[in-house]
Amino acid sequence: MIRTVKTTPYTDQKPGTSGLRKKVPVFQQPNYVENFIQSVFDSLEAFQGKTLVIGGDGRFYNREVIQKAIAMAAANGFGEVIVGQGGILSTPAASNIIRKYKAFGGLVLSASHNPGGPHEDFGIKYNISNGGPAPEKVTEAIFARSKAIDSYKIADIGQVDIDKVGSVKAGEMTVKVIDPVADYAELMESLFDFEAIRTMFASGFRMTFDAMHAVTGPYAKEILENRLGAPNHTAHNFVPLPDFGGHHPDPNLVHAKHLFDEMMRDDAPDFGAASDGDGDRNLIIGNGIFVTPSDSLALLAANAHLAPGYKDGLKGIARSMPTSAAADRVAEKLGIGIYETPTGWKFFGNLLDAGLATICGEESAGTGSDHVREKDGLWAVLLWLNILAVRKESVKDIVTKHWAEYGRNYYSRHDYEAVETERANAVVDELRARLSTLPGTSLGALRVAAADDFAYHDPVDHSESRNQGIRIMFEGGSRVVFRLSGTGTEGATLRVYIERYEADPAKHGLDTQQALADLIVAADEIAGITKHTGRSKPTVIT
Ligand code: G1P
Ligand code: ZN
Repeated sequence: MIRTVKTTPYTDQKPGTSGLRKKVPVFQQPNYVENFIQSVFDSLEAFQGKTLVIGGDGRFYNREVIQKAIAMAAANGFGEVIVGQGGILSTPAASNIIRKYKAFGGLVLSASHNPGGPHEDFGIKYNISNGGPAPEKVTEAIFARSKAIDSYKIADIGQVDIDKVGSVKAGEMTVKVIDPVADYAELMESLFDFEAIRTMFASGFRMTFDAMHAVTGPYAKEILENRLGAPNHTAHNFVPLPDFGGHHPDPNLVHAKHLFDEMMRDDAPDFGAASDGDGDRNLIIGNGIFVTPSDSLALLAANAHLAPGYKDGLKGIARSMPTSAAADRVAEKLGIGIYETPTGWKFFGNLLDAGLATICGEESAGTGSDHVREKDGLWAVLLWLNILAVRKESVKDIVTKHWAEYGRNYYSRHDYEAVETERANAVVDELRARLSTLPGTSLGALRVAAADDFAYHDPVDHSESRNQGIRIMFEGGSRVVFRLSGTGTEGATLRVYIERYEADPAKHGLDTQQALADLIVAADEIAGITKHTGRSKPTVIT
């Protein structure tokens, strides 16, 4: 039986950088989930009888929301739901399933790298038929609908068993429960030289992978250990837990510091990697060297042709604006296009669909390619492994040679988390008001060459996205960028991105924070961070 239930709108269901993210108790309010899912469905057209993919990263509240989503999909006329067994699908795996089975779209349930648990974060994101996050015009329509919604539809079908692979009926609709790993593993085998990687592991290559008790555990076990022959215990913390073991499943130098420490020891493995809550981010650390995500993007682009899936070369590279310009130098050398987009993976979709870019990346540990329409943590790890297997050099040698050839972009991000929203807004508003007066002014030895608020013109659909981050460019190519996070659930997070280019190999061995010291001071002076926020240092440095 299908019921139409009366409801009243919530005013705060605006999707951010990556879907709707809130604390679990917010999602647990009466009809909160139902309102949002109905607002998504109401913003779509002509999905009757079509397929909807549903999966999440297994965090607290995942199963409850999946049951609601299935019952609402049935009531709204979807013909089929494909769901990962146990409600599990990593974000890149969900993207692949949408594409492979030509689904109408998908609901990806995750708050990515944010912590999980009864008082932590949850999220719902809608992805379109290309497998990628809904573009802004769709998310805006969803938000508009959520402010006016007065009823939702739900089918009384009871609990659907999502723990057994196979098909079950839910009212008129079919629910297909699939193995969350198999299709993804097959896709990876089609892109990379598994034979060469197997040989590398067989000859003693040592790797450690931290799944951070998040969704990549089962994927890493199957691909790294079962298919590639890496020794048992290569994957750590591989059992997904609803609260990620109480940690932040964010693979950065703060929340995966243990991995960094392990990789800096003399007897460290050859390769260390980690992924985040929903499996789309990656952390890459070689024996004795951390590879910044911006450098990793450049290195993967420069070496991608060594993997079978990319042997014909790349069509272009895309990076988010705050990501360092290291990839630009690779694109220039390869003679291919380079695209600079606002923060968030949704801006890469059009470029990938139009065949303008093959590889994309963000400084926030996201890298991916046209194989899906999300960033993909294990994909980055496997491409690295493929490159290591072919080049037979250490990560450190590969990175230092790359810098010698292209120059080094020293890069760091300083986050000021959970700042009072008004104070964080004051930093950005004041900067914005002063933009036109900054060029020509000096801070110590640094002279401002240009300053703007980044605006993006999408070359494919010609949409405009304004106010995407304040850039202060200095003479000589250094820059600082300021923007407010669109994924936080507590106050505001101010992100400050700092970059300096150094061509001279003799100066490539500096400590990153030292190499950026004058820019860090300049950033505080220009933006008055301490003055406005009362914070004398960042909460997180990556
Ligand atoms: C952050 C990252 C961004 C990434 C997003 C989703 O967004 O900065 O690159 O796409 O998470 O993983 P932000 O919080 O900065 O808006
Ligand atoms: Zn993520």
